[in-house]
Formats: sequence, structure tokens, C-alpha cells
Amino acid sequence: MARIGGTEITIELGDITRSTTDAIVNAANCTLLGGGGVDGAIHRAAGVKLLAYCATLGGCRTGEAKITPGFKLPAKYVIHTPGPVWSKSHAERCDALLRNSYFNSLSVAEENGCKTIAFPSISTGIYHFPLERAAAIVAKTFAEYFTANPESCLERVTMVCFDANTYSAYEKAFAERFD
Ligand code: APR
Repeated sequence: MARIGGTEITIELGDITRSTTDAIVNAANCTLLGGGGVDGAIHRAAGVKLLAYCATLGGCRTGEAKITPGFKLPAKYVIHTPGPVWSKSHAERCDALLRNSYFNSLSVAEENGCKTIAFPSISTGIYHFPLERAAAIVAKTFAEYFTANPESCLERVTMVCFDANTYSAYEKAFAERFD
């Protein structure tokens, strides 16, 4: 567990659809109309009203973030953000877009008065973003955001990792950044 100002940064191994945080983040695609991976799991758990609501949003650009109710999920809100599809030839652009997905999701959570938020490992599944590279960007982005926002209402940010390999990557990246 790390702390930046008044905000605790934690890592868990588990299923984000069970998170009881105020908001959970969905690694979506630009249509916001569901998909596989964590996107599919969140839509299945939230129920059909989430898809109906998302259909009114007009999609979302990569790196941006849009909020919806959580419907049947334990979380009050879902913050949908399309991360970048990994491209080795555009690595720096991908890095910037991944940073934006986390930074903008934190901003949207803040704007909606959330005190706790859970993230999956955005883009490191179907979008093939290299895991260790992503984890280092996430640690840097959290440090950047909470250093720039010392009065943040966010008390706890949790990375919810679906497998042990992902958990280890974030544990290592956070230890290097925060310890
Ligand atoms: N809880 C937490 N993490 C999960 C869960 C879950 N229930 N299910 C999957 N994950 C993890 C994956 O193991 C991976 O570590 O989420 C991370 C992101 O993987 P993806 O869901 O494949 O997301 P991403 O790589 O961002 O690709 C997004 O996939 O599902 C489609 O519509 C989505 O087109 C978009 C693309």
C-alpha cells in the first residue's frame, strides 16, 4: 500500500465487478457498446440498462472517460475509458493515451464526488499493451495526479488485477515509484 498526500494507493487480486468502491473503471472500446474482457464482465454484471445508457453517449475517444450509473453492480458508477491499442511504432503516443485514460478517469471520479475508485489494468489484455510498461505509466500517472491535486476527495485508488502476473507487475511498479 502506498500513500500520496491523503490518498491511499492499493493493489488487489480479484474481479472488479465485485468491487464496492464508489466507481469502477471499464477498459472499454470507443463505441462504448460492450465487448469482451473486463468490458464484457462489467456489462454482464451491470445488466442491460448499462448498454442502453451507453448507447446514448455517442461513444468515447481513446484516452477520454465518460461516467454512467452502475445499475446492478455494487459500485455506484462505471467510468468508461478506451485505452490505446498497442502499437510498437507509435509507442510514445500509446503511452500518452494510456496516461490520459487513467488521469481523465480520476478527474471524472473527482467531479462526481467519488471517494474510492477501482481500475482494471487498462489495455494490457486484448489491446496488447506491454504489462510492465503499462504498470510503470500507471504509477507515474497516479503520482502526477495526486501531487497536482493534494486536496483530492479521492481517499483510495485500487488496482484490481485479474491474475497473479498482472498483480506482480503493479506491485513491482508501485514499489519502485512509491517506496
Ligand atoms: N476484473 C478485473 N480485471 C479483469 C476482469 C475482471 N472481471 N476481466 C478481465 N480483466 C483484466 C484482463 O485480464 C486484463 O488484465 O482486465 C485487463 C484488461 O484486459 P481487457 O479486458 O482485454 O481490456 P483491454 O486490453 O483494454 O482491451 C479492450 O477489449 O473487451 C474489449 O470492448 C473491449 O474492445 C475493448 C478491448
